[in-house]
Amino acid sequence: MQITIDGPAAVGKTSLGRALARHFGCLFVETGKMYRAVALGLDRGLNLNEIDITMDKDGRFLLNGENVTDLLHTPKLDQESSQVATKPKVREKLVAIQRKIAASFDVVMEGRDIGTVVLPEAEVKIFLKANPLERAKRRANQRKGTDLSTTLNEIRTRDVRDRTRAISPLNPARDAIIIDTDRKSLAEVISEAIDLVKGRLGER
Ligand code: C5P
Repeated sequence: MQITIDGPAAVGKTSLGRALARHFGCLFVETGKMYRAVALGLDRGLNLNEIDITMDKDGRFLLNGENVTDLLHTPKLDQESSQVATKPKVREKLVAIQRKIAASFDVVMEGRDIGTVVLPEAEVKIFLKANPLERAKRRANQRKGTDLSTTLNEIRTRDVRDRTRAISPLNPARDAIIIDTDRKSLAEVISEAIDLVKGRLGER
């Protein structure tokens, strides 16, 4: 089974993905963390071909064998990961890893291009939406001490980069179901998505 969740930064993909993976017994794959790990490797002076990214079964990310999962969510890597994500060679490398994982496990995979490029044959594709201010509030709540207007600016910068890049820009797949989360609680979004997946799988 393949369930894809795409959408812009801080829209709630991880919270929904984790819940769906638990509910349907799938492996949860956060592809953004792979782009973050590549950016971290480049920061450490490695070349792209010296960077090896793997994910273990508990969803931890290893950079050349080192567990870097807890180092990946910083404002610096927010921006650097979205810059490296515009590079075709980086995407080629990570998409291959993502497809390999999905060939071996039932997955809920989240990112920007999962329904459009990585797993175009997925059974269920979800695209999450929310306005930038709502997303900035959610992110500022998660990262204590972050200022709302700075967060909003950073989210807008990443939105533009994700939507306008030449390769795999952020777009809903033609067959994606769009969930607007602006006025919905996380519990409502999860329950709507579970019903949707059940409906889709029941149709087969
Ligand atoms: O989802 P997250 O914020 O962790 O992703 C970090 C960055 O990686 C994003 O800003 C986006 O530019 C990039 N990304 C991507 N394609 C994916 C996942 C993430 O381009 N499938």
